[in-house]
Amino acid sequence: MLFRSRRTLLNLAIAIFTIVLSLSLRSPNFATDLLTADVQALVKMGARVTGSPAAERASEFLVNEYRKAGYQVEIQPFSYPKFADVGSDLTVNGTAIRVWAMVRSRSGHPSGKLVIVPNYGTSEDFQTVNVKGAIALVRRGGGLTFAQKIDHAAAAGAIGIVIVNNQPDNVRGMLMQPSPIPAAAISGKDGAPLLAQPTEAQATLNVQSRPNAVGRNIIAHLPNVRQPKLIIGGHFDSVENSPGANDNASGTAVILALARQFAQSTEAQQIWFINFDGEEDGLKGSEAFVEQLDSAVLKSLKGMINFDMVGVNDRLLIDGSGALSAVATQSTREEVRSSRFGRSDHASFQAKAVPTLFFFRGKDPNYHSPSDKSVDPRLLKETQQAASKIISQLLK
Ligand code: BES
Ligand code: ZN
Repeated sequence: MLFRSRRTLLNLAIAIFTIVLSLSLRSPNFATDLLTADVQALVKMGARVTGSPAAERASEFLVNEYRKAGYQVEIQPFSYPKFADVGSDLTVNGTAIRVWAMVRSRSGHPSGKLVIVPNYGTSEDFQTVNVKGAIALVRRGGGLTFAQKIDHAAAAGAIGIVIVNNQPDNVRGMLMQPSPIPAAAISGKDGAPLLAQPTEAQATLNVQSRPNAVGRNIIAHLPNVRQPKLIIGGHFDSVENSPGANDNASGTAVILALARQFAQSTEAQQIWFINFDGEEDGLKGSEAFVEQLDSAVLKSLKGMINFDMVGVNDRLLIDGSGALSAVATQSTREEVRSSRFGRSDHASFQAKAVPTLFFFRGKDPNYHSPSDKSVDPRLLKETQQAASKIISQLLK
């Protein structure tokens, strides 16, 4: 009995020893695993389009990760014109059909008769029917723009307009001016039976649109760091229909890794880590940031380092500007010049005469596509290592 339990104890000890040994042998990989986990966590959220629920989840994730690493976090909201259809439909005789709001359509939910306008909706066409207080149903085409049809409908007293596409699918109509009445398009397939209705139906057009997007930059620093010498940043938003693994969960993960790496060091007393939103809509987040930054802080900055698309392609490229140019390696600079790569957030800092470094890895076959789903963790690690050397050098 005693012998058996001793053996059990010994086996247990051997098992524990084996686990500890294998963990310690693998410990150099722990950081890489964290980089991969961060990219995967972000990719799983879906396309992080500025203003979308996925982008909000991403910003919450970032806030948490920085706090865990001991940083204070500020969320900087900013707003810019960006039309969004937040769910529009046309209900006919009690059945809701999906419609697409025209870009710049006003919101609203008018109810009335659904009046079929003959031909293509010229002023004359509108004179042959009574659309006063009604929703006009008009065919696309006939040499008239969407805006002209909308104007004719509004002038004739319509309270809403639905344009039937001339293809089976739907179309995102674009207006140059806000519409006087709610305006939407319906697919050719869904519109055909409506155009064929013998009697006027009762309808409600529900157009829900938003003229602006709100983005949020995530700014992390140790307590009391008010005048950073260095900004380490990159965007975390992505384009519609792309999970943005390389563009730019890769850069986001490297920034988090650098923040964790420097958390206890003197370097972090001089750094702000920033994840920018709204980049894919034209560098909106970094523009808002430099505009709102105290001019004394802007002037005292040694530089800004941007990471964008650092998880694909073996060769690390570093582009430099101003006083940081010398830091960018000679060999990489040539390639950067010959390829007209990537406008990204460092441009907003360059525009304010802040020296910049841009870490990237060039063309990605999955750029802005649904297949931008994974990156090479080794490349993230290498980017972090190359960057941390330069950072320590700069802040010495
Ligand atoms: N990540 C890209 C920029 C990029 C492309 C970096 C290739 C490295 C390699 C960025 O998100 C982007 O798409 N930028 C746009 C312009 C931006 C202002 C919308 C671009 O480069 O066309
Ligand atoms: Zn990008």
